Amino acid sequence: MQLSRDEMTWVQETLEKVKHKLEKVSKRSKDKIPYTAVGGVHDDKSGDGIGWWTNGFWGGMMWQMYMLTKEESYKEIAMENERKLDVCLMDYDKLDHDNGFKWLPTAVACYRITKDTASRNRGLLAAGNLAGRYNSVGKFIRAWNDWPGSDEDHRGWAIIDCMMNLPLLYWASEETGDPRFGQIAANHAYTTMQNFIREDYSVCHIVEFDPVGGKMVRSYGGQGYGEGSSWTRGQGWALYGFTLSYIHTKNVIFLKTAEKIAGYFMDNIPKNGLIPVDFRQPANLFIEDSSAAAIASCGLIELARQKGGEDGRLYLDAALKLLPALAANSISWDEREDHLLTKCTAAYHDEMHEFPIIYGDYYFLEALMKLTGDELFIW
Ligand code: GLY
Repeated sequence: MQLSRDEMTWVQETLEKVKHKLEKVSKRSKDKIPYTAVGGVHDDKSGDGIGWWTNGFWGGMMWQMYMLTKEESYKEIAMENERKLDVCLMDYDKLDHDNGFKWLPTAVACYRITKDTASRNRGLLAAGNLAGRYNSVGKFIRAWNDWPGSDEDHRGWAIIDCMMNLPLLYWASEETGDPRFGQIAANHAYTTMQNFIREDYSVCHIVEFDPVGGKMVRSYGGQGYGEGSSWTRGQGWALYGFTLSYIHTKNVIFLKTAEKIAGYFMDNIPKNGLIPVDFRQPANLFIEDSSAAAIASCGLIELARQKGGEDGRLYLDAALKLLPALAANSISWDEREDHLLTKCTAAYHDEMHEFPIIYGDYYFLEALMKLTGDELFIW
């Protein structure tokens, strides 16, 4: 993966600015697990919000910073984030398809670096719970648990985001030598390939299966604009997720799928490089999701690494369009503010749009570190 001198200079200078800012932010937020920033100040999910699905990303950022600097303070913050998540391992309702998002950037990252047995144990417990969500007739991993106060039946729901959690299962198989975890992950990826991807290689967010018979029932728009729309963060999860399933299984069908999804994504990048919440949202109102751009960039760079050659260069070019557009338009470089990305959107129909969200910052940092070769491979 060859970057020109100018491209590499831009990446290194941008990473240096991020590093400089995070040195300050990490000191201010060392006792928190941030999700967003309000008035430039990180919030904290350490208490009542500890079950929230994004609570591994701060730890992941700290591990990436540790890779860059070898400063012990980052390691300590990351390990504290990991320990705080222990209450989730004792509470069924705080465990779901997002176990990978919580424990890959914390416990498994820690184990990869330190070989700490408590971290290995946390990772394997989270993987066991994730594997336990597998529907063996439909060959999919169930998404959320039942929502308090809702009578919606989620037993047959699967979501595209889950593709990014499969690496927890691939890791568990590698770590224990037991193929079952990886078999479940590969089966889920295959089911996703068959049921979530449309003819034009856009993907649905939610697919409902009959939880008893296993057949697909219908799809939902989920966090995107609506049924049949194209939620961009979901396209990013799919692009990166299928690339990762290829890396872990070496099954070329997953690579081909990732390439098709990448082709669709690249064809839809607006001229200014800024990514909307949904590629099919109404044209008269532009709402951005900068986290989708950061996630897709990671997927594109990883795909470029796998493919090499001219195809690889096309994927790299796309990432090198998205990342500078973010850096120029959708990032706070003010070191008094705790966040990086400013225009993330959790869901199209939420009341709040275009605000800082921690996973946007995490994937922006990861993308830059993939390009310099400093990244800790989390997934
Ligand atoms: N639940 C994952 C996401 O919002 O992207």
